[in-house]
Amino acid sequence: MKKKIALIYGVTGQDGAYLAKLLINKNYIVHGVKRRSSSLNTSRIDDIYRDPHEERNFYLHYGDLSDSLSILKTIKKIQPDEIYNLGAQSHVGVSFEVPEYTANVDAIGTLRILDSIKTLGLEKKTKYYQAGTSEMFGATKPPQNEKSIFYPRSPYAVAKLYAHWITINYREAYDIFACNGILFNHESPIRGETFVTKKIVSGLCAIVKKKNSKLYLGNIYAKRDWGHAKDYVVAMWKMLNKKKPKDYVIATGKQYSVKTFVNLVAKELNIRIIWKGSGLNEKGYWGNKSIIEIDKRYFRPTEVNSLKGNAQLARKELKWKPKYNITALIKEMIKADFNS
Ligand code: NAP
Ligand code: GDD
Repeated sequence: MKKKIALIYGVTGQDGAYLAKLLINKNYIVHGVKRRSSSLNTSRIDDIYRDPHEERNFYLHYGDLSDSLSILKTIKKIQPDEIYNLGAQSHVGVSFEVPEYTANVDAIGTLRILDSIKTLGLEKKTKYYQAGTSEMFGATKPPQNEKSIFYPRSPYAVAKLYAHWITINYREAYDIFACNGILFNHESPIRGETFVTKKIVSGLCAIVKKKNSKLYLGNIYAKRDWGHAKDYVVAMWKMLNKKKPKDYVIATGKQYSVKTFVNLVAKELNIRIIWKGSGLNEKGYWGNKSIIEIDKRYFRPTEVNSLKGNAQLARKELKWKPKYNITALIKEMIKADFNS
């Protein structure tokens, strides 16, 4: 049987790496787009990359979501059965620093891929997955599901909302099999270092190993619904392998504050943190040492305070449910970090 061909934008990122491995295990031929950078950016996928002279099921191409020509040429050359657009400037805090770039890549980048599918006449062949986000719900009260109102609170979330609606528009206007996955936060040992879960795990491991003495955080009262990336890429694949395209919320349905996440990591590391003070003066003590402090540079101009997803539709129609709970996620992240 002919192998399916997938093209992944964002293959060098957390989700791209897990998805590439999932699809290779499902006997796909996987193509990924990476950006040119002055230092190597392929550490998450080095284990599946093979020498070009060997027989392969994984290929890398240079490209960028801000570059229409490269997108058109890559899709024309590969003629993929499935495209997963996971590429993005994905940091909410950074999007306030680089709002125009974030809009170009996260919003217009999506349009560039969708319009390439149409321009190349691949509407009937190529299915499209868009990496949507719970950030689009922003200020809307939890629990959030597919019918909840969007109220984005950052340049990142506003750009992703454009991507969400342009995906729906191309589905309706040109009959492209295009789906939005509205994914709540998902983490893993290969999560980027500046996202809060990874920062907390690495920070506390370094303190326990005496390689560092302090961890600085921003708003520790924000609440998130945290799952494991390995579970969430399965949902992406399931969406593209249904009979009809549809948009789905993917979440665990459980919510914790950043402060509770710190306490859970500390518990796994066998340390007890005592919190004292309030506001910018709140501190976390281990014994008599203050090891966690609040730094206002990590606060965002507008915050998303509370996210908790309702993934009933995905449970029913995709038969998807997460295998990891928060403790299993934290244990795996600590194990990888502590031994690194
Ligand atoms: P990530 O680790 O930050 O990966 C982002 C990927 O996009 C990387 O491969 C990055 O390349 C690539 N990229 C950045 N700018 C690009 C550009 N201009 N052109 C082409 N590629 C570019 O993010 P992630 O956590 O895997 O998330 C995957 C996607 O899901 C993102 O779209 C994110 O916004 C969305 N999302 C994530 C979550 C979550 O909790 N993880 C939840 C909802 C939605 P480099 O490696 O070169 O930087
Ligand atoms: N990054 C970071 N660093 N966040 C902090 C810190 C800190 O030092 N201290 C507190 N926080 C708070 C943030 O203000 C936010 O409320 C929460 O911790 C989570 O921050 P991140 O881990 O940066 O994730 P995010 O929720 O903003 O965005 C992630 O999830 C989205 C899905 O809801 C990213 O992966 C986005 O790409 C994704 O769309």
